[in-house]
Amino acid sequence: MKDSMNNCEIAVAPMMDWTDRHCRYFMRLLSPSAVLYTEMVTAAAIHHGDAGRLLRFNAEEHPLVLQIGGSEPEWMASATRKAIHYGYDEININVGCPSDRVQSGQFGACLMARPETVAECYRAMRQETDILITVKTRIGIDDNDSYDFLRGFVEQLAAAGCSKFDVHARIAILDGLSPKENRSIPPLDYARVYRLKRDFPELTIVLNGGLTTIAEVEDVLQHVDGAMIGRQAYHRPYFLAELENHFNPDFALPNRRDIVEQILPYIESVLAAGEPLARVTRHMLGLYAGQPGARSWRRYISEHAHLRDAGPQVLINALKAMPLAA
Ligand SMILES: Cc1cc2nc3c(=O)[nH]c(=O)nc-3n(C[C@H](O)[C@H](O)[C@H](O)COP(=O)(O)O)c2cc1C
Repeated sequence: MKDSMNNCEIAVAPMMDWTDRHCRYFMRLLSPSAVLYTEMVTAAAIHHGDAGRLLRFNAEEHPLVLQIGGSEPEWMASATRKAIHYGYDEININVGCPSDRVQSGQFGACLMARPETVAECYRAMRQETDILITVKTRIGIDDNDSYDFLRGFVEQLAAAGCSKFDVHARIAILDGLSPKENRSIPPLDYARVYRLKRDFPELTIVLNGGLTTIAEVEDVLQHVDGAMIGRQAYHRPYFLAELENHFNPDFALPNRRDIVEQILPYIESVLAAGEPLARVTRHMLGLYAGQPGARSWRRYISEHAHLRDAGPQVLINALKAMPLAA
């Protein structure tokens, strides 16, 4: 999916509890071509659990990548087998998450130290499908904070056939930092990711971590094939529309009001399926971030979306307080 925006990939990072299918539906309205990622789903959950509930998505969400966490090749293969029926465009292996829960399951960032295990998973998954299987990783873990360590990891995966890597440009500290701290305390090192691309020009390298402006994204794309945006896309989703407009000038910047109106039929369908309004609107709180009225937008929705029988009128009322042009 390299040509999502003018021959480079702009992606929204996988984020647990955030990038669910409602969030992705909303983001898709803001950006027709950004590559969207699911939250991480564990292979064990897909294997043993209600795969339908975990894997279903709206057709509008394409291009869409499913992120799977796990380290058992058979389970990763079984999860892949189930997932491909849903029509994902790509499957991504999580080698970046530092949480304790993930480490005790022996997957996530700790797998950087076990490239042969990840390669085995990759091969087992590859046997199930022709769609792209990719890896999201850090640039190192704990004391393994060197370019050579990163290169060794990528080399083994590339030898197994993996051709695309999303690289969060900071190491993970597995002992002593919370997942949240692990997204801010270890310093960003874009140069290490750029060097990886120079050494493996045939691989698709997508850089992730700390990107908040179009200028930064532009700069990164001088060096690598894609840019993945996490928190900024969630907290200020209109950034996705700005990026789309920048890289695809045919796409006119939408009015935020139009985005809200476009999502109303979807909200009706979600309510009809028995889900509460807030499941969708919680992802929309940042729509006006940085604009006049941002606070009242956020406050009105937060105070009203949870009420019994709350429906699309909550958004319509919230819009009434907003400036027309924003
Ligand atoms: C709430 C939250 C949940 C996350 N969940 C995942 C996840 O499920 N899988 C994953 O690979 N990374 C996860 N991440 C990390 C992001 O994908 C991304 O690597 C990180 O936020 C750095 O990018 P950013 O600086 O653009 O936010 C999560 C980040 C956040 C903020």
